[in-house]
Amino acid sequence: MTIEDNIQKLLSKREEAYSAGGEKRLESQRAKGKYTARERIHLLLDEGSFEEYDMFATHHSNEFGLDKQQFLTDGVITGHGTIDGRIIYVYSQDFTILGGSLSESYAKKICKIMDQALKVGAPVIGINDSGGARIQEGVKSLAGYAEIFQRNIMASGVIPQLSAIFGPCAGGAVYSPALTDFILMSKENSYMFVTGPKVAKTVTGEDISIEDLGGPDVHGKKSGVAHFISEDEEEGFLILRKLLSYIPQNNLEDPITTECDDPIDRKEDLLNQIIPDSPSKPYNIKDVIHAIVDDAEFLEVQRNYAANIVTGYAKFNGMPVGIVANQPNYLAGVLDINASRKAARFVRFCDAFNIPIITLVDVPGFLPGSAQEYGGIILHGAKLLFAYGEATVPKITITIRKSYGGAHDVMGSKQLRGDINYAWPSAEIAVMGPEGAVEILEGKHVRSIENPEEKEKYILEKEAAYRDKFANPFEAASYGFIDDVIEPRNTRFRIIRALKVLATKKDTNPPKKHSNIPL
Ligand code: HXC
Repeated sequence: MTIEDNIQKLLSKREEAYSAGGEKRLESQRAKGKYTARERIHLLLDEGSFEEYDMFATHHSNEFGLDKQQFLTDGVITGHGTIDGRIIYVYSQDFTILGGSLSESYAKKICKIMDQALKVGAPVIGINDSGGARIQEGVKSLAGYAEIFQRNIMASGVIPQLSAIFGPCAGGAVYSPALTDFILMSKENSYMFVTGPKVAKTVTGEDISIEDLGGPDVHGKKSGVAHFISEDEEEGFLILRKLLSYIPQNNLEDPITTECDDPIDRKEDLLNQIIPDSPSKPYNIKDVIHAIVDDAEFLEVQRNYAANIVTGYAKFNGMPVGIVANQPNYLAGVLDINASRKAARFVRFCDAFNIPIITLVDVPGFLPGSAQEYGGIILHGAKLLFAYGEATVPKITITIRKSYGGAHDVMGSKQLRGDINYAWPSAEIAVMGPEGAVEILEGKHVRSIENPEEKEKYILEKEAAYRDKFANPFEAASYGFIDDVIEPRNTRFRIIRALKVLATKKDTNPPKKHSNIPL
């Protein structure tokens, strides 16, 4: 063979790999409105940056006619490329080859890039579109999944791991995305469940569609499994690229600060008027967020799940931060089980990857009632408390309005190592709201007043006295629990200055194998 022949052989092998599962299956993939595994990688990465590994990999099985179904790549495309110039490792499951099902060779390919990503210190993005374990390979396929799970676990908190779901993701296969930091589902074609509708029908008698069991609506709103829901695959890639702009390559690096044209001392007069006169009236905390961050850009995480707490990423003078904010517009911003879990996970990700946390507080307390108690609000609320107390990144807390009871302590309070705690003049920091406090402290006396008008007058007087004493920021400030009471319109500038001061902050936790967060 001449060198020319050898090169021709290489080129024809590459052609073979590019043909994936064949024209018919590629057509069927497109007919579903799905991109192919390769097209997805090219949409995700910077143009021309992808370098593929193991294009010539095949499986080594003969069972059930598999020896006659050999495809180069074996059903998953792996390698690395760049996003905004930063190295990213990626794998993309190819449904056109044996339904994207996972074999021993296929798992080895994914493990190879995960191992290298961990050594290099670069994020991994997995694009999922697969029928799960390759049935013909049996236990070897299960072992392959477990090899991936183990690597997901070792990489957790060291390099960011992102999952996109653009097709089926079922059975134990769901646990690799579940072990990663973020899951994005597309509104088209994506679903995730541990057991499908047929098994549900057989075991429990429940009749349910694929979408109602594990579609994007379910995981975006009900289960909280998905962090982002995109309209389609293209928007999904934009979201993933945007998300990466807020997070560093690994846990030893800081997030990248970018140029910013938005003036640092931009005053927002609307903030001085945003708090309604009545403490029970809602407003949208996202209006506050948009007003203070760079260019009003906020990437919200789990937007439709536990909407009583808002989490997401933004920048202040080009510095990436994570924002946690109670949402008075939804359930009065109360902390419940789902909100606690959502925010705890968010805080822990920020802490693991050196992203400062900005907390905006307007919380009336924990949601009362048997549903919450039976569901374990004690444990779930403790998760958020734990996450804040454990975090060593810069923590800046702004109390906007209510900060009552246990929820006050939880939401980035001074005693949970809040570095800089500001309050707006509208802040009410107390054990509970005036109505509840008067009911408990004065209930007996109130019940003894027979004249209704006199009773009403007495209650209002006591509530006013309580509000005067406690429902303000100055009582807390007099103990140093609040570092300064600030004018709302100056909030952006004060946060930026605080972030600058805290940029060199060092804090540690005692040496230990790991903590025992109340799971
Ligand atoms: C081998 C598979 C496969 C699998 C699909 N195919 N899933 N081959 N192992 N798991 C093949 C099909 O034979 C078919 O081959 C091609 O992929 C496309 O599949 P279709 O069924 O024609 O596609 P579609 O109608 O779109 O249905 C997609 C699907 C269905 C819903 C995902 O294929 C399906 O139910 N697959 C099995 C899912 C499953 O139960 N997996 C095991 C889960 S348990 P041809 O040659 O016709 O193109 C699991 C355990 C993991 O994964 C454990 C980890 C701990």
